[in-house]
Amino acid sequence: MNLEVNLAGIKMKNPVTVASGTFGYGREYSELIDISKLGAIVTKGTSLKPKAGNKPPRVYETTAGMLNSIGLQNPGVEYFAQNDLPFLRKFDTKIIVNACGSTQEEYVELCKILNTLDIDGVELNLSCPNVKAGCMAFGTTYEGVKQITSSVRKVLDKPLIVKLTPNVTNIQEPAKGAEDAGADAISLINTLLGMSIDINTRRPHLANNMGGLSGPAIKPVGVRMVYQAHNAVKIPILGLGGIVTGNDVIEYMLAGATAISIGTGNFISPDTSIKAIEQIEEYMRKNKIEDINEIIGKVQMN
Ligand SMILES: Cc1cc2nc3c(=O)[nH]c(=O)nc-3n(C[C@H](O)[C@H](O)[C@H](O)COP(=O)(O)O)c2cc1C
Repeated sequence: MNLEVNLAGIKMKNPVTVASGTFGYGREYSELIDISKLGAIVTKGTSLKPKAGNKPPRVYETTAGMLNSIGLQNPGVEYFAQNDLPFLRKFDTKIIVNACGSTQEEYVELCKILNTLDIDGVELNLSCPNVKAGCMAFGTTYEGVKQITSSVRKVLDKPLIVKLTPNVTNIQEPAKGAEDAGADAISLINTLLGMSIDINTRRPHLANNMGGLSGPAIKPVGVRMVYQAHNAVKIPILGLGGIVTGNDVIEYMLAGATAISIGTGNFISPDTSIKAIEQIEEYMRKNKIEDINEIIGKVQMN
């Protein structure tokens, strides 16, 4: 059986990656699971300079999901390059760095540095709903996505995956913006903007008031958007949102994803991604599928 997929030039041994912000830089998980079994690791959102993130409480569990407003806390790209990248490189898996910034200039400067590092690709986060400036402002329109992607494309020779926000009316527009600007792939979805209120204090549970909703609750939205984006662009798609099992992975691939990421599922159990790989193999055996690539985009609509 062949589980290998090619995501925008990144050859992965299987289609399973772990989602940005839910796996840190792999250190903690490496003590619990064999991270060399993963197709790739997408790092925590990394910026040009270190970021402290938002005030706590920054996470809150909701029905079949969670809200977060971490605010992109990270040690900055220099620290990553010196400390986390050498550690990650010890494992037999691909390394995709999730890149975030507050201005176009910041994205460009960051990607110039990422271009010099021993990494396999960059996932450009144009989508975080929970930082006051930046990100979401870039990711919601065709023009916004096209402009920032083009400026990054000029300085980045490595595979470029543009991560899109689901907080839009028509996902096909930002998807086309990324493709037209020369992105090698798109990833979707990031979290859906949400809010939850403590009825006793009458205050939102998150210090930031609003946050991003993730986990199984958002899976049907992700599957729908991957399907719609797959119909709008030719570049491959990294699908995510609510994936927990191998069957969830198959669903995303039928909708059009070439590979997938598991995010909140890692918090349910640290070995969710490893189990999902085993379950994909089981599905392939049962359905006599020799090559996982055969099922990409093969949903049959009613
Ligand atoms: C705690 C937390 C932190 C996250 N941090 C990032 C981040 O730094 N960059 C990013 O692009 N997405 C980030 N995300 C979004 C996830 O990568 C993913 O797009 C989203 O959670 C949907 O997938 P899931 O339902 O499998 O979690 C974060 C999500 C969570 C729950």
